[in-house]
Amino acid sequence: MTRVAVAASYGGPDAIEIVERELPEPSEGEVLVEVKAIGVNPFDYKSYSGALGTDASKLPIALGSEASGIVVAVGGAVEGPGGTIAVGDEVVVSGQNGTYAERILVPARFVLSKPEALDWKVAAGVLAVAGTAYDALESVGIKSGDTVLVHGAAGGVGSVVAQLALARGATVIGTARRQNNDALRAYGAEPVEYGDGLLDRVRAAAPNGVDASIDTVGTDEAVDVSLELLTDRSRLVSTAAFGRASAGGFLTVGGPASMERRRLASPVLLEQAGAGVFEVTVAKTFPLADAAKAHAELQSTHPRGKFVLIP
Ligand SMILES: NC(=O)c1ccc[n+]([C@@H]2O[C@H](COP(=O)([O-])OP(=O)(O)OC[C@H]3O[C@@H](n4cnc5c(N)ncnc54)[C@H](OP(=O)(O)O)[C@@H]3O)[C@@H](O)[C@H]2O)c1
Repeated sequence: MTRVAVAASYGGPDAIEIVERELPEPSEGEVLVEVKAIGVNPFDYKSYSGALGTDASKLPIALGSEASGIVVAVGGAVEGPGGTIAVGDEVVVSGQNGTYAERILVPARFVLSKPEALDWKVAAGVLAVAGTAYDALESVGIKSGDTVLVHGAAGGVGSVVAQLALARGATVIGTARRQNNDALRAYGAEPVEYGDGLLDRVRAAAPNGVDASIDTVGTDEAVDVSLELLTDRSRLVSTAAFGRASAGGFLTVGGPASMERRRLASPVLLEQAGAGVFEVTVAKTFPLADAAKAHAELQSTHPRGKFVLIP
């Protein structure tokens, strides 16, 4: 048996219920993982909020797409993206739905070795944000010498976008609320406060212009400022402004091609996180039973860094 958090209906965070589930033995190619920590992402609450539509036949909705833990059983000789997976291995699970659980049964292709340098909590929260960040950087071809405007540069995705862009040799102007400006400076980005007058502040911070922009916020302000500054709209990508992208002539990420690009990049991204090429910080941990509380907090102004659930 395992305890699992699911959304039993569409609505707010109180739609989340903790239920008990039977777990079968692993079939050929499957891995049973005892979960140590679970990364929380905005998609988790969007999956039952109605923001992505509603379909009663999908209820209850399995929550979560990433976790860290220990392998407790395998089905046959199991090969993951990084090689053989054995009982006792410390692993990261990424890309599989339903990680809000004490134990999860997953196909081996979603199971990677946890770098020793990452603790359980950080390891659980790295890949969703880093995969999205890498995907966004690739989609607009960020390279050395670019000046990049990153909207939401203190956020989970935005902070990795900014750090990986800097590692590629780009200059980064990052939007954030005032309290997060020092954190942006600490990793080498130029902070700009969002809100009224944003366009003028970005122009002052980037007197030679902006070559590309990555929006991780999705507000009209973020999109409008980027469109005003860029000469080439195909160098704007958003993780959130889906409604405006086709008419606006800019890109979004998140479809099947994105998922494949992220899956292929995951081993390297995990290695880079372990080696300190970029950092993911943990803002808060919550018991798995308090998943609803974590979702309510994540939807309002919240501390910088990842939220993590502990079973
Ligand atoms: N398409 C995809 O595949 C994909 C994948 C992952 C995430 N996403 C989406 O990307 C978005 C960000 O995810 P996340 O994990 O980075 O979330 P997050 O950690 O909560 O970060 C969001 C950031 O947005 C900033 N923000 C809030 N209001 C703002 C405003 N009015 N103007 C500018 N910035 C504002 C906040 O910065 P301050 O704290 O400085 O205020 C916050 O740090 C979410 O909508 C998520 O669903 C999409």
